[in-house]
Amino acid sequence: MAEPVDLDRLKDDLLAQVSAAADSPALEAARVAALGKKGALTQQMKSLGGLDPEARRLRGQALNAVKDAVAEAIEARKAALAESELADRLERERVDVTLPVRPERVGRIHPISQTMAEMVAIFCEMGFTVAEGPDIEDDFHNFAALNFPDGHPARDMHDTFYLPDRPAADGKPAERLLLRTHTSPVQVRTMLAEKPPIRIIAPGRTYRSDYDMTHTPMFHQVEGLVIDESTHMGHLKGCLEEFCRSFFGVEDLPLRFRPSYFPFTEPSAEVDIGCSRADGQIKIGNYGDWLEILGCGMVHPNVLEACGVDSSRYQGFAFGLGVERPAMLKYGIPDLRTFFESDVRWLKHYGFLPLDIPAPATGFGS
Ligand code: DAH
Repeated sequence: MAEPVDLDRLKDDLLAQVSAAADSPALEAARVAALGKKGALTQQMKSLGGLDPEARRLRGQALNAVKDAVAEAIEARKAALAESELADRLERERVDVTLPVRPERVGRIHPISQTMAEMVAIFCEMGFTVAEGPDIEDDFHNFAALNFPDGHPARDMHDTFYLPDRPAADGKPAERLLLRTHTSPVQVRTMLAEKPPIRIIAPGRTYRSDYDMTHTPMFHQVEGLVIDESTHMGHLKGCLEEFCRSFFGVEDLPLRFRPSYFPFTEPSAEVDIGCSRADGQIKIGNYGDWLEILGCGMVHPNVLEACGVDSSRYQGFAFGLGVERPAMLKYGIPDLRTFFESDVRWLKHYGFLPLDIPAPATGFGS
């Protein structure tokens, strides 16, 4: 039988063991050592029998108080350990539920989508917003409002795909429909819907009846439009220079503005960027040779008026940028037509993983 011991000391010892228990098995060992069959408190309880009634009553009460205190401490420690074990386990077994279950099955981002996302990111950083228009257009938005009068030779250059007429309805005559030949009709739609100041880009699909080494019947453009009271050609140059340098990641990339003609701009220009063609390979940079990449100009007053914008007060610039050619140059894709062949092996090679971030979003040229 155990000798009676000092209960305050015993209590302190047992509580210290409980609070020192670092995990559930250690806590269970502390519980057995205190309250188990052969535990210190159980032993003390057993020794009560040898005391006279009054001493037994007093010591019994004191022992019960110690027992309660230890039992309470064990429960509290148990709860604390369970909580921290759960937190550890959650941390260890953390699952990002936004990740695909099988990453290899997710497929790739097409280089055209990736390139357009990069272009959009750069212009949005400059303060442009994205506008959209339909792929199926009418003559007014695709041509007439853009200062292509009926019978104008520039219409023929567009190799337009025509669709069956939209039938007459609601007092409107039947109208010839077409697949838009450029993203410029989004300029018209935007000016008709919004008041200046306007600063938009319009990425999208465009269509022309043409198919050879350098043309596909469906291709992509990013249109730009800025209209306010003071924007001039200098702003146009600065904007496009900033864009090209950022897109290609070449800080000293030179740009050359060549006079050109588009019905909807006056003056009009085509823009070349510096390149080298040494060894049959095109390299972008300040190497003395030139490569055309976009058309631009100051919006023609006739276009402003056709879209309900007062041309004596407002002015601005527009540009139209192809997507395929810059994508080929930036990512070393040699053949335009492969973009649209839907060859999975090609996409696996040239495509982008869905979690890749467009370069401009991560800083200059990175
Ligand atoms: N729409 C023209 C095309 O597809 C490209 C273009 C040129 C757009 C000059 C513009 C511009 O906005 O100002 O050939």
